[in-house]
Amino acid sequence: MTTAVPEGINPDVKVVYVDLDPVVCIHGRALLASDQVAIVQGDVRKPYEILADPAVQRLIDPGAPVGILMMFLLHLIADSDTPQDMVAGYRKAAAPGSVLAISHAANDARPEYVGRISAIYQRANTPFTPRSRADINAFFGDWPLDGPGLVNMWPYAEVPADVDADLAQLGYSSVAVKPA
Ligand SMILES: C[S@@+](CC[C@H](N)C(=O)[O-])C[C@H]1O[C@@H](n2cnc3c(N)ncnc32)[C@H](O)[C@@H]1O
Repeated sequence: MTTAVPEGINPDVKVVYVDLDPVVCIHGRALLASDQVAIVQGDVRKPYEILADPAVQRLIDPGAPVGILMMFLLHLIADSDTPQDMVAGYRKAAAPGSVLAISHAANDARPEYVGRISAIYQRANTPFTPRSRADINAFFGDWPLDGPGLVNMWPYAEVPADVDADLAQLGYSSVAVKPA
């Protein structure tokens, strides 16, 4: 779970992990819940409900910068659920200096592998919507991208030997910072 990473770097960090799946939440609570970490069972498609959740209100100071991590999440939100508006809701609520990190499956990177993953999701009840580089870029709105910008999630040269290098080329990721 993504929550384990910031805790390992800064023991004082406060984290709210949101997931729709009750099994994920039960598992997450067993592993991670503490005074500083909350696992909220909720639907990210409803930003105003998530932001009003008591755990979010308790742990997140709306006046201070936050990190919004949407890692391998947004391609699970169908276009009909207006994910651009949804992400804009979280961007709007965040204080200046906040960071938005997104990794997202692409439909213009490795079509043969995207097709393979799409076929797997067609057998599940979760929609899978890989998007174009331009559409993924648009999730950051007017927040300037940090570092190298929108990049392939895992450059071939850096893929460890025990990872399928082609599957590692499935999408794009970037980090953006809300201007003052
Ligand atoms: C590929 S996992 C990524 C998990 C996490 N971002 C991480 O890096 O560890 C995608 C997760 O998104 C959750 N999910 C899918 N649609 C969701 C929604 N509408 N609201 C909240 N969580 C959702 C799924 O249950 C799943 O646990």
